[in-house]
Amino acid sequence: MTDVKKGKLLNEGKTKKIFAAEGDDSLAIVEYKNAITAFDDPSFTKEFATKAKYSNITTSRVFELLNAAGIPTAFVRQLSDTEFLAKNCTMIPLEVVVRRYAVGSFLKRHPEFAKAENEPPHRFEQPVVEFFLKTTRGGLKDAEGVIVEGLDPKKGEEDPFIPNPHEAEWKLAHPKRQDSDPEASLSRTVDSRRVLGNGTIAEMEDAITKALVALESFFSKHQFKLIDFKIEFGTTKDSKIVISDVIDNDSWRLRDKDWNDVSKQSFRDGGALSEIEDKYALVAELMQEASV
Ligand SMILES: Nc1ncnc2c1ncn2[C@@H]1O[C@H](COP(=O)(O)OP(=O)(O)O)[C@@H](O)[C@H]1O
Ligand SMILES: [Mg+2]
Repeated sequence: MTDVKKGKLLNEGKTKKIFAAEGDDSLAIVEYKNAITAFDDPSFTKEFATKAKYSNITTSRVFELLNAAGIPTAFVRQLSDTEFLAKNCTMIPLEVVVRRYAVGSFLKRHPEFAKAENEPPHRFEQPVVEFFLKTTRGGLKDAEGVIVEGLDPKKGEEDPFIPNPHEAEWKLAHPKRQDSDPEASLSRTVDSRRVLGNGTIAEMEDAITKALVALESFFSKHQFKLIDFKIEFGTTKDSKIVISDVIDNDSWRLRDKDWNDVSKQSFRDGGALSEIEDKYALVAELMQEASV
């Protein structure tokens, strides 16, 4: 395939830059930065020199594996050490999570699934899919105006949980509080159509569950355990709903056969940056085994 030229910068976030692909506005070039972030808090952001390279390898091999399994993604092909070509998407502002094991914020909402520290976490026979609304500074807007506002990041209300995603009007809930907690309800509703566009919850559940099954079958061959992961969906120029953004070592919890974390969770847990870099290298090397 001929080379794709970088056009203008369309978007820049904490970990990536998105460029137009010159001559084809249905495509975009995603370029990784070396930043590693945590807790949505810039003061936790660090860098290491190989982060972009390892993340790009990981995401490229993951998406190749999903594309080969017939799961719709925005990924087209890896372009360089730190860039890949993707369908240029309008992003759906949801964080969609799938869980094979009960850990993390799930346990805050469902402490009944907690296990003793020396035991492995609870395994869901049927993977659990959850939806969180992607908010920024406590709110979300679209072209027509405010969808929700006034959530308090200091109270942990950012990226609220949607307990009833299949209903037309979503209730918003605190992402880390039990149902029975009087502060669980955020007393706000959102019109789901404004967030979903022409996408549906059912097709996202289907795609993320298939992605989990495809990825865990790869990892289990190498004695790694995929605990959970988070993705974002987007709408392509030809109105298809696809897994977009990235799936890399920041997106999941991945553990080795002894249940030791090898993913970004180690960074959130305060691991030394040199050890984190080794883990990203290990995962990128492992993903190269998935080359199709
Ligand atoms: N294929 C794509 N098409 C268009 N935008 C994308 C695509 N993939 C990712 N993006 C967007 O690029 C932006 C930059 O990514 P990122 O650095 O992760 O941002 P953030 O810090 O907001 O998470 C995000 O808004 C993300 O949704
Ligand atoms: Mg992001």
